[in-house]
Amino acid sequence: MRSDKSLFRRKTIAAILQNPPADAEGHAPGGLERHLTVRDLTALGIAAIIGAGIFSTIGKASLDGGPAVSLLFVFTAVACAFSALCYAQFAATIPVSGSAYTYAYASFGELAAWIIGWALIMEYAVGNIVVAISWSDYFTGLLDGIGLHIPAYLSTGTQSAYQGYNAVLALMQAKLPLSQATPAQLEGYNIWNSAPVLFGDWHLVVDLPAFSITVAITALVYVGIKESKTASNILVLLKLIVVVVVIAVGAFYIEPANWSPFAPNGVGGVLKGVSAVFFAYIGFDAISTTAEECKNPQRDLPKAMMYALIICTVLYVIITLVLTGMVPYTKLGVGDPLSFVFAEVGLPKLSGLVAVSAVFAMASVLLVFQLGQPRIWLTMSRDGLLPKVFSRIHPRFHTPSFATIVTGFFVAVPALVLNMDLVVDLTSIGTLFAFALVCGGILIIDPYGRSEARFKVPYINGKWVVPLVLAVGAFLIFRYNGANNHEFGLDVSGQRGWLLKDEVSGSITGGFAHQIPTIVFLMFCVALAVLSFRKRLSALPVLGLLINLYLMTQLGISNWTLFFVWLLIGLAVYFGYGYQNSKLNRLTGTEATPA
Ligand code: ALA
Repeated sequence: MRSDKSLFRRKTIAAILQNPPADAEGHAPGGLERHLTVRDLTALGIAAIIGAGIFSTIGKASLDGGPAVSLLFVFTAVACAFSALCYAQFAATIPVSGSAYTYAYASFGELAAWIIGWALIMEYAVGNIVVAISWSDYFTGLLDGIGLHIPAYLSTGTQSAYQGYNAVLALMQAKLPLSQATPAQLEGYNIWNSAPVLFGDWHLVVDLPAFSITVAITALVYVGIKESKTASNILVLLKLIVVVVVIAVGAFYIEPANWSPFAPNGVGGVLKGVSAVFFAYIGFDAISTTAEECKNPQRDLPKAMMYALIICTVLYVIITLVLTGMVPYTKLGVGDPLSFVFAEVGLPKLSGLVAVSAVFAMASVLLVFQLGQPRIWLTMSRDGLLPKVFSRIHPRFHTPSFATIVTGFFVAVPALVLNMDLVVDLTSIGTLFAFALVCGGILIIDPYGRSEARFKVPYINGKWVVPLVLAVGAFLIFRYNGANNHEFGLDVSGQRGWLLKDEVSGSITGGFAHQIPTIVFLMFCVALAVLSFRKRLSALPVLGLLINLYLMTQLGISNWTLFFVWLLIGLAVYFGYGYQNSKLNRLTGTEATPA
């Protein structure tokens, strides 16, 4: 046997399919159990999709973009649909746990697979931190409603309170009026000051409900897929009933006048919601991590992803229209917009019901993501990129036991301390990156739609379609967005370049660095248009790739910076451990395809 030292060493699809589900020690393979049908999978998809996005982050997006945010939901759904088609083809070709990570291993090679596996931690574990924090907000609100009060210092993240405290302190030291602080900052200041002192200046402020729900869900996921499936099906049914009730009742309270102006802050205002809206869709791909627990993954996974996506898109667009029709969009910048609108129109009971359903909805999102993350680590560990213990299967529960506990730890502890806004953006950027690579992967393994897989992305010749769509897209973006929010001049550090202007206030919000992602993206568009024209590439994966990258460019340079730092840490871990211990480093032959 020879060893393959290339960073682009790839696993063949045949080798991936042969990989036996062995335990960490390599003996007595327990294996995962096959229980899931297309209905369970669709339910799992909906369980993962409808959550903090629609119950919480949509509020701020509506405030920025107005009723037109409903169109952003449609646009984002298209991006997700193209990605879902690519996911579905991969899932039909390589039906094993591991999702985008495994797909990248077969298409781009080991280094890209590692990077994507690392980025997926942002989608699953970091995404779940958001959901746990948001769950805690609704839950404590509910308990308050029935007279059970958890002290604010035990239901607030350390970071939120500490930031508020510092912001208000700075105003005081500068002898500025406290009215300059936001309500959240003032609240943080009060919480910090009223909390017990631990040592020195450090106060005890933690989000205990967020921690506790994570621990409870981790325990459920630990004891078995069957139990998780039943719980998820019940939660989804409940969630769907309440969402439909919200739409049906809310429709009677729509004031069409609230829909005008439809896009009060222009396209720029709408695009501010990219992160929140995209976050609301994340999850349809999570079901691909359960491929080894499906009865018929090749047939059922593609169907379930599409069903879940279509159902959620329809619900999201209608909910956004109902929401922005019921109250003026200017009032929607709250953390619990769906229950808030019913309180506003004088239906407090329904408002309470929505809050209860949000608690269930978000618990089911947590469940699916806590299921997904350990299964990705399991697959990476089987490939030798993570220590063997990550692929240990519990002898009685048949679940990846160690990886499940690590996931619980990784989500529960940060949920005690972190602030939500940052984690929403990080989740979205990491997931968009994964989606882009999955679309790109289809272009590598099947650029002309000739695969024999039981499901494949429908082939549309990209020769004219891609350049045409890009030309129309470029025109629309320049006409409605680019022209009025950019200005050539000096940025705050005195550098000359294109500056980003705030749509609403007209103030400069960023320097030349903000434009780097856009410039790189434009060059990429041109290259892919030329390639599609010359090689007649399959249009849908190309467009999926470009739309995901476009959405990434809308996410601000600070998110990009953090994302790159995260990737650099990942590369250090890979070269420190995975590169040496990879199975492909030890044997090739039938397993690897040398680059
Ligand atoms: N789509 C999931 C949610 O909105 C992540 O909670």
